[in-house]
Amino acid sequence: MDSQILVKAAESFGTPIYVYDLPFIHHRLSILKEMFKDFDFRLAYAVKANFNKDILSVLEKKNIMVDVVSFGEYKQVRSVGFTPDRIIVNGNCKKREELQQYVNDGVFSINLDSYEELLRLEKILSKPTRVSIRVNPDVDAKTHRHIATGLKENKFGVDFDTATKMIERIKSNKMLDLIGLHCHIGSQITEVEPYLEAVVSIKYFAKSMDLELSVLNLGGGWGIDYGNGKVLDLEEYKKKIFPLLKEFGSTIVLELGRWIVAPSAYLVAKVEYIKRTSSKIFIMLDTGMTHLIRPALYGAKHRIIPLYDVKNRKKIKADVVGPICESADTFRKSYTMAEPKEGEFVAICDVGAYGYAMASDYNLIPKPKEIIWDGEKLSISS
Ligand SMILES: Cc1ncc(COP(=O)(O)O)c(C=O)c1O
Repeated sequence: MDSQILVKAAESFGTPIYVYDLPFIHHRLSILKEMFKDFDFRLAYAVKANFNKDILSVLEKKNIMVDVVSFGEYKQVRSVGFTPDRIIVNGNCKKREELQQYVNDGVFSINLDSYEELLRLEKILSKPTRVSIRVNPDVDAKTHRHIATGLKENKFGVDFDTATKMIERIKSNKMLDLIGLHCHIGSQITEVEPYLEAVVSIKYFAKSMDLELSVLNLGGGWGIDYGNGKVLDLEEYKKKIFPLLKEFGSTIVLELGRWIVAPSAYLVAKVEYIKRTSSKIFIMLDTGMTHLIRPALYGAKHRIIPLYDVKNRKKIKADVVGPICESADTFRKSYTMAEPKEGEFVAICDVGAYGYAMASDYNLIPKPKEIIWDGEKLSISS
């Protein structure tokens, strides 16, 4: 996105602001469409990454499905027009009354996360219901431990022995229709190998159970380049994973979140102070960890770009920090950038996923506004 647009957004709406580039999201969707053109493929966008209504509306109009993990997300997608048959319900702790609603509405699939959840569901079944089982293939996704979800020590999904028991139970219940298997092994995955391991183990399991899957849901997790050059290689993915997917002959569902929206957004902030101590320089922004918690939570490193003319500016090494009363409120340590002046703007990149969605009111500093760039004009998100 042209930095002039970001400057204009900051001048028009004030800072801090999230700015979303909708044409980028359209571009991602077209890449996926082309990549999976030989499959019966459905994208079920992972709403947790970004629940902004303008973004959801773009996806709704494109006939994309959604994956939700809470009743709040369910209500959000319903409010922008997603019909239940386009909604996949995930989550490890679905409440009784929520399950009841999903059954009544007839969602595309309730993805069962445990044997216990199956028992709960059986008790409230009022009509035929489609379910899938989230299996945990015990695969190391080689990502940050907080976003790895497919190891047996993680709370998500069931091992293959439990899945076997669940399948037997589901088969004996006429109200339940087992449409497929689901797995999500983690997020920000930049190697193809963990996916390969997961698909191979699901294939063997399905074969051993003589299971005809109408849906194979491989979750999300595709990693993006946060500036260190590490990214999931889609050509390698095609080469190694596609032949296996063809063998399944099922509808392939991916629940991508980050890959669709992360690079579409910028957190634009103002430099409030440049504080010099005896040992350091701190660039202090009017945005902090309550607006973007990924650096504090995962040690994530986002690129920060100057939105001022860098000509004739000396380079400095500084810690880029926010206004929150926590030392973890640091976006970058010893970061080299052209020295800014107070009042100038910077943009933190690749913040479209798990950015605003994880923002909080801590310290009672208001959340940023969300601004939409539709390719022609900027507007405040509804
Ligand atoms: C079940 C499930 N599906 C999809 C996703 C989306 O992951 P990502 O944003 O990495 O694509 C997540 C994220 O945690 C998830 O838990």
